[in-house]
Amino acid sequence: MKIFLDTAELDEIKKAVSWRIIDGVTTNPSLIKKAVDRRNGKISMEDYIKEIVKITPGPVSLEVISQIAEDMIKQGRLLHENFSPFGEVAIKIPINPSLKDGDGLDFEGLKAIRQLIKEGIAVNTTLIMTPEQALLAAKAGAAYASPFAGRIDDYIRANLGMKIGEDFQKGDYFNHKLLRKARERKLIEAIEHAGSIREAYEKREINILQSQGQDHGIYSGVDLVAKILRIYRLYGFKTEVIAASIRNPRQVREVAELGVHIATLPFNVLKEMVKHYKTTEGMRRFMEDIVPQYQDLFENP
Ligand code: E4P
Repeated sequence: MKIFLDTAELDEIKKAVSWRIIDGVTTNPSLIKKAVDRRNGKISMEDYIKEIVKITPGPVSLEVISQIAEDMIKQGRLLHENFSPFGEVAIKIPINPSLKDGDGLDFEGLKAIRQLIKEGIAVNTTLIMTPEQALLAAKAGAAYASPFAGRIDDYIRANLGMKIGEDFQKGDYFNHKLLRKARERKLIEAIEHAGSIREAYEKREINILQSQGQDHGIYSGVDLVAKILRIYRLYGFKTEVIAASIRNPRQVREVAELGVHIATLPFNVLKEMVKHYKTTEGMRRFMEDIVPQYQDLFENP
């Protein structure tokens, strides 16, 4: 599994590169804004991105900012022309750039992906929230598809009435398996109580119970990644899945268990992954137990 760093923060990228475990970087306009705000305009955007591309050992995803295919294609070409001489670049295109129903822009992203792919430019399809969207991205020939695992977890928790910052924190693990079990148990109880399955189907409470804790049959961000991988494997699509919007190490483990191609991680999640209380305790004990004869092996070889 490849690990990308989900940041536009140069210092974080430099550190992760020095640890030799990252294979690429993903940015988005919000991450770039955060990084640039911290520098108060002291460096030009162009030089800043060049620096990121230069030091990253693998693709750097850079996002377009239009909603119209023609302009996305121009922006994609521009980003590619300007930055690919310094390293590998992938152009991030939203699967659906529409801002509201009926604006007619739903397929602009897919049109842009097709064209850029035709020109040999790698595309990372972003903001994927359903397996259906991922299927379309693969059909368009995208090099990467980025399902937003954390945002799906946020959405499901919000549907359950849970508030971010109050009932859970952004980095908290979402125990989707436990929730699913609890929901299934409640449903069975409610169906039994209704008397028959036919009667149960007509009951509003049961319909509500059925739709809670999921998003059109997706039970979590990890479940979304699992379903996309299954579809890609069934049809032999070459598109690589980047598990994105990752919030904690346990989510990384779960997408790794699925055999995801890539996970893009915020710096804090990457730092958490190497830690365990017993590792630190074990390390302390080993250091305390070093006898002088053993030390001598290194000091007087
Ligand atoms: C990466 O490609 C995405 O832009 C990013 O993972 C989104 O993460 P967030 O949901 O934590 O903002």
